Amino acid sequence: MEIGMAADHGGFELKEKIKSFLRDKGYTIKDFGANKLDSTDDYPDFVVPLAKEIGSGKIEKGIAICGSGIGASVAGNKVKGVRAALITDYFSAHQGVEDDNMNLLCLGGRVTGYASAEELVMAYLNAKFSGLERHNRRLQKVASLEK
Ligand code: RB5
Repeated sequence: MEIGMAADHGGFELKEKIKSFLRDKGYTIKDFGANKLDSTDDYPDFVVPLAKEIGSGKIEKGIAICGSGIGASVAGNKVKGVRAALITDYFSAHQGVEDDNMNLLCLGGRVTGYASAEELVMAYLNAKFSGLERHNRRLQKVASLEK
């Protein structure tokens, strides 16, 4: 599975660490930037291109990181077909996929430490959408807002 990653300056360091961690595990990473630490850069410039590839189906799952994870989730959720959430706990990292088909995990690079981020990312990547009727029904109600 190819994983897309994006981060601004607030998430740059954590992105680089998670990217190496996932590559060591055999994942292919498409990095949408930032490619260097620049304290003046803006998270939409990296998160939106990633979100568009998720929305179009080119990438199945992404990880977006800004300082708090909030800007990344706000930007990601503006793109059709993207279900982004700021995740800080293990349960939500997998349940967000199982029930809500989350396809963009957002992390706060200034909030979540590296070891916790690793566990959250693995819970997210290993989780599968249940496909249960009640979850599809709810997601269809959300998707109807995109029409
Ligand atoms: C950038 O300083 C910071 O505002 C950004 O990374 C993020 O936390 C926004 O939600």
